[in-house]
Amino acid sequence: MSAKGRIPTPPREGGLYLHVPFCASLCAYCHFTRTDRHDAAFRRRYVAAVRREFEVRASRCGLLSGPQARTTTTCYVGGGTPSTLEPDLFVDLLAGTWGRLNRSRDAEVTVEANPESLSEALARTWRDAGVNRVSLGVQSLDSAVLERLGRACDPQTARSALRLAGRIFPRVSADWILAPGCDAKRLREEFTEARDLGVGHISFYILELHAGTPLAAEVASGRVRLDPDSVIERTYLEAVETLASLGFEQYEVSNFCRPGQASRHNGAYWRREPYLGLGPGAHGFWGGRRYANLGDPDAYMREAEAGRVPESSSEKLGIEARRLERMILPLRTVEGVSLTDLDVSSEWLARGETDGLWRVTDGRLALTARGMLRIDDIEARLAAAPSC
Ligand SMILES: C[S@@+](CC[C@H](N)C(=O)[O-])C[C@H]1O[C@@H](n2cnc3c(N)ncnc32)[C@H](O)[C@@H]1O
Repeated sequence: MSAKGRIPTPPREGGLYLHVPFCASLCAYCHFTRTDRHDAAFRRRYVAAVRREFEVRASRCGLLSGPQARTTTTCYVGGGTPSTLEPDLFVDLLAGTWGRLNRSRDAEVTVEANPESLSEALARTWRDAGVNRVSLGVQSLDSAVLERLGRACDPQTARSALRLAGRIFPRVSADWILAPGCDAKRLREEFTEARDLGVGHISFYILELHAGTPLAAEVASGRVRLDPDSVIERTYLEAVETLASLGFEQYEVSNFCRPGQASRHNGAYWRREPYLGLGPGAHGFWGGRRYANLGDPDAYMREAEAGRVPESSSEKLGIEARRLERMILPLRTVEGVSLTDLDVSSEWLARGETDGLWRVTDGRLALTARGMLRIDDIEARLAAAPSC
């Protein structure tokens, strides 16, 4: 068909990610882009810089505004701790970015909050600004575990925040961490309580040790002892069964939801849909390019204020990188990956099935809960030796 006669394909729908790097205090295990050194003037400058970043990007990309603008279906404000932003600054941030996009009418707008900083007034401001999903960093309802994690929140505050969120937002998600000292019985009680408080989505992470964090130093010095892998794996698998019995089906390595409550925003990451990332340390996938913004808030703000794109790295994906992503990203989800996107031998496929790591049905390979525990190894093997 001639170029003239070709029916134009509409641009794929996209998402927006906004990174708020401020925290009231720093958790010993966390490696995300965040800082506890900020005041009201710094936060105001940050919001202006993110709005400026949006303008700079929009001036260079017709998919962000104007007649060719791509429909954007999800917005996710993560951190850091977005609930440290003053209500008026939050409204400004959203209006200067999300508010300028071509938004779908039924868009999902999620904001992360820490229980201790989610007030009724803030929650109402968020809801009035269009937020319809809140994700609370609960981590545990056990005061000993919270203390071990160095969290600034006690179980009662977490419960109150879950109740408040349930009253104000149609959808509530909560983050949990499988930390040293967590046991399956206690997790059952906590997840049951979360369900009874109206939580419809749980992100359940196994505590990861990241080089350079205070936790890594404490483990290296012997001051903190992690549970052996066999104990962590047993507790995780029992917790997955508990979640299923409470109606939270696993739909991704760390994500569980009640019917209809899956995060649309995260789903777009695994389906390789485009998303714009704004703010210090934010990542984006836009125009076939993956990029990361400068993580240092000062450096980020200076670049954005000067009208430059504040990126620290950027990669246009080639054929091989796209092939790897098509294989590895859907592997994280219960839908799994199409065998046509996998370059593996039938022996390898059969071995993993016998070992209980995955199931092959209708031409797709989908990891079991046990396979999800081994996702890093499986990914590494697929990436290193495509013909396993
Ligand atoms: C980027 S954090 C920010 C959320 C929020 N400020 C908080 O801490 O409650 C998002 C989630 O990642 C998880 N997380 C962060 N660091 C982790 C680690 N080292 N291991 C496992 N999960 C982690 C926590 O469950 C946390 O709620």
